Amino acid sequence: MKSTEQKFKTIEVDGKQRYYEPAPKGISAANFRKVVESRRSVRKFTDKPIPKEVLDDCLDMALLAPCSSGLQPWDFYVVKTPAKKAKLVTACLGQLAAKTAQELIVCVARVDRVSEFSKKMIKEWPMPEVPTLVRRYYQLIPYNYAPGPLNSFAMMKKAASNVGGLIAPLPRGPYTRSEVELWAAKSAALACENLVLAFRAHGFDTCMMEGYDEARVRKLLKLSDDAFPIMVIGAGERADDGVFWPQIRFERELFVHEI
Ligand SMILES: Cc1cc2nc3c(=O)[nH]c(=O)nc-3n(C[C@H](O)[C@H](O)[C@H](O)COP(=O)(O)O)c2cc1C
Repeated sequence: MKSTEQKFKTIEVDGKQRYYEPAPKGISAANFRKVVESRRSVRKFTDKPIPKEVLDDCLDMALLAPCSSGLQPWDFYVVKTPAKKAKLVTACLGQLAAKTAQELIVCVARVDRVSEFSKKMIKEWPMPEVPTLVRRYYQLIPYNYAPGPLNSFAMMKKAASNVGGLIAPLPRGPYTRSEVELWAAKSAALACENLVLAFRAHGFDTCMMEGYDEARVRKLLKLSDDAFPIMVIGAGERADDGVFWPQIRFERELFVHEI
């Protein structure tokens, strides 16, 4: 193993230098389990503010979530202004989880930065050489994910992949506008999960909310048609009576299948 640049290590494999990032050891599964198991949807928070460093750290951890093609199709709006916060609480149908939250964060998925971020990916590739395949991949993505007017490109691409897919395995999308939206929503939801687990690890709690008036949230955040709210997350310190009932999960056989 040797260092080619200060920033990253490489290791020789089959006579070639490969990027080297070994799996860290000594991470406690028990602590992770504690975070996961103690996360509950909290509907009532205390008045204790969340320190800015904690909020920032949680947002930073949210941004580390895995994301399709590394394209980070999300935005997080931390709604701070009291008047805007009040409007957001109203848009959240006055839910107690929103009303009592110390912080209200809206996660928004975006489908309009695919091209920009693909270029950024090539420009900011963290190694001296952008591998040819990687460069081609990011050059193609903007075309792959462009549905075209009335999904016209999407339909052509779908027809082509249906035919090509008879011969060999092929990606079958995302092509249509709704498929591209789902593409963005998947990654954004993963970032939301990182966010709520990060708050829990810091001793705070959250409530994910999709019970809101989307039109009002869109208006408040001045979202374009290419951005849509995934969920509003209320965060704060759990009140003693902040969890309303024990966690309900059905038997694992309903969900876990070995085939
Ligand atoms: C996408 C999503 C939307 C949700 N929307 C709301 C909501 O609007 N209001 C609410 O009180 N809880 C909401 N929840 C919380 C769920 O009701 C809660 O996760 C579920 O009942 C399981 O409870 P637990 O989170 O304590 O395990 C939402 C959760 C998710 C994942």
